[in-house]
Amino acid sequence: MKLKRTHNCGELRISDKDKDVVLMGWVENYRDHGGIAFIDLYDRWGVTQIVFDPQIAPDAHAVAHTLRSQFVIAVEGEVRPRLDGMSNPNLDTGDIEVYVKSFELLNKSKTPPFDVQHSEDVNAEMRLTHRYLDLRSKKLQNNMIFRSKVTGMIRNYFLENDFVEIETPILSKSSPEGARDYLVPSRVNPGNFYALPQSPQQFKQILMVAGYDRYFQVARCFRDEDLRADRQPEFTQVDLEMSFVDRDDIMGMLEGLFKRLMKDLFDKDLKLPLPRITYEDAMLKYGCDKPDLRFDLEIVDCSDIFSNSGFGVFKNAVNSGGLVRSINLKGACDKLSRKDLDAMTPYIKPFRGKGVAWIKMNEDGPQSPIVKFFTEEESKALYERMGAETGDVLIFVADQEKIVCQSLAALRLLMGEKLGLIDNNEFNFSWLIDFPLFEKDDDGNPSSVHHPFTAPRPEDEALLDTDVFAVKTNAYDLVLNGNEIGGGSVRIHDNEMQAKIFSLLGISDEDAKEKFGFLLDALQFGAPPHAGLALGLDRIMMIFLGTDSIRDVIAFPKTQKAYCMMSDAPSPVMEEQLEELYIELAEIEEDDDNE
Ligand code: AMO
Ligand code: AMP
Repeated sequence: MKLKRTHNCGELRISDKDKDVVLMGWVENYRDHGGIAFIDLYDRWGVTQIVFDPQIAPDAHAVAHTLRSQFVIAVEGEVRPRLDGMSNPNLDTGDIEVYVKSFELLNKSKTPPFDVQHSEDVNAEMRLTHRYLDLRSKKLQNNMIFRSKVTGMIRNYFLENDFVEIETPILSKSSPEGARDYLVPSRVNPGNFYALPQSPQQFKQILMVAGYDRYFQVARCFRDEDLRADRQPEFTQVDLEMSFVDRDDIMGMLEGLFKRLMKDLFDKDLKLPLPRITYEDAMLKYGCDKPDLRFDLEIVDCSDIFSNSGFGVFKNAVNSGGLVRSINLKGACDKLSRKDLDAMTPYIKPFRGKGVAWIKMNEDGPQSPIVKFFTEEESKALYERMGAETGDVLIFVADQEKIVCQSLAALRLLMGEKLGLIDNNEFNFSWLIDFPLFEKDDDGNPSSVHHPFTAPRPEDEALLDTDVFAVKTNAYDLVLNGNEIGGGSVRIHDNEMQAKIFSLLGISDEDAKEKFGFLLDALQFGAPPHAGLALGLDRIMMIFLGTDSIRDVIAFPKTQKAYCMMSDAPSPVMEEQLEELYIELAEIEEDDDNE
C-alpha cells in the first residue's frame, strides 16, 4: 500500500471542496458514460462517487475499465462539487465527487456469487456460505454497528448504576433452563463432560452469595432446542442480578434502561411505570403470556352463556370441562370476506383447534352458520357480553382451555395484522407478573414455569404442601410488541426451600446434590435475598431494527439445524481425537440436509 488514507468513504462534504484526498474501499459498480467513467467506492461509513476523467488522469482512466465489483482500491484525487442538478440527496456524500489523479489496486475479488448490496432474493444458503460478502452489505453492516452501539449503551447504563461486569465459565455444569445441554467432553477427565451454560443462572446467584451485589454480564448462552425465527442455539443475554432487592427494584432498574434507550435511539418518551399484567389476566384476555398490546382485540369468555346451548359444539365443549371464548373484531364486517373467515379454521390446526365459528353483525341482522341454534336469551346475553354492534364480526373457538387460548392468541395476531391495527413504529412494553411456580408436564407432574431457582411468593409457601399448582411467584417477563425480551425472578436464598423445590420437581436428593450441589452448598453460607433478570439481546435488536429474522442481527448465525454454513460446523473429528476422549461413535444414519 503506497497511499495513505485521509478520509473514509462516508465523510466528504461540500465543505471539503478542492481538497486532495485519499480514499480506500470496495468498488460497488463501474459505469462508463462516454469517455468519463464513474465508480461508487464504499466502506462501512458510506459511499463516494469517484470520477475517472481522461483529461485529468489519462493513465488512471485507461485502466479504470478493469475494475470489477468488490475489487479493493485506493484512489487519490480532488474533491469537487457535483455539477448543478447532479447532487444525490440520498447519499451523505451526494453533493461531491472525487476526481481521480491516481489509484492503486489493493486487491482483486473473484466475481461474487450474488450482488452484495441487493441480495434480498438470493437464497439463504448462498448468503450464509459467503457470509463475509453478505456482511459487507449496507443492511447487515448497519445492523452490526447498531448492535454494537446499543450494547455499549446498555453496558454504560449498568456500569453507571454501579454494576460489576463479571464473566462466568463457558465450560461449566448443566444449568436447567428447559432446553437440552450442549456437552463438551473432557480429555483430562475421561468420561466426564462439561455442559455449555444455558444461562449463567447459578453462577450469578453464587456471585450474590459472594457479595458481588449488582452483577451484570453480556453473556453467551447455549441451548440445544428447536430453532425458530427468534431462536438461535447460541445467543446473547444481558444477564443481571442484585442483592437485598425485591421485584420492584429489578423492574425499576430495567425500566430506567429502556426509558434511556427509547430516548437516545428513537427520541421517544417511554411512560413509566410500564403496565403490569398478571399471567392469569394475560391468558384470559390474550391467550398467551407475551401479548402484543399495540392493539386491543381482547378475548372474552362466554362459556357460561352456552352451557345449555342448542349449538352442540359449544354446549359439549363447556360440559366436558372446556371453554367457549370469543373476540369481537370491531367494525370488521366490510374487511373480512367469507374466504377470510373460512381460512381461520386451517390456521388454528397446529394448535389442534377444530373450528372457528363466526357471526357477522350485518346491517340487516346477524349472518352466521350458528346463530340459528341460539335461543333469543343466548344471543342477547352474547351480544351484550361482547359489546357487539352493527359492523362487528364475532369469532369463536370452543375447546379445552389450552387449545382455545393458543388458537385465539394466534387469530388475534392474524387479525391485528389483517385489519391494520398494528403501528409498526410503536414500541409497546409491558411486564407479565404473578406467574405460577409450576405448570403440569405431559404426565401431570410439576415442572418449573421459569426455572427451579425461582422463589414462591412468601404468602403462597404453605400451598407447596397442599396445592402446588396454585403457588405463584414473584417472577416477571418483559414483553415488547408481543415478544418475550426478558425474564427473571426473585430467587430462593434458603437451601431448605431450594431442596424442597427440587424434590417437588421429582429431582432426587442425590441428583440435586450431583447437579446443583455447589449452589445448595453456597446457599448455606450466608446467601442474601436476591433477584435478577436476563434480557434476550438478539431479540431486542430484532425489534429495534424491525427485522423478523434473528440471523439479521447475529454476525455468524446458524441454520435451522444449528449448522454454520460458512465454517461447516459441526463437523466430524479425527479418530485420534475421539480416542483421546474415550469416545466411540455408534452407527449414524446419513443425513446431509443442513438447512
Ligand atoms: P430465559 O430462559 O427466559 O431466562 O432467557 C432470557 C431471555 O433470553 C432470550 N432467549 C433467547 N434468545 C434467542 N435464542 C434463544 N434460543 C433464546 N432463549 C431465550 C429471551 C428470554 O426472555 N436465567 C434466566 C434469567 C433469570 O432468571 O435471571 C433465563 O435464562 O428473550
Ligand atoms: P359444524 O356444525 O361442524 O358445521 O360447525 C358449525 C360452525 O362451527 C362452523 O363455522 C365451524 O367452523 C364451527 N366450529 C366447529 N368446531 C368448532 C369449535 N371447536 N369451536 C368453534 N367453532 C367451531
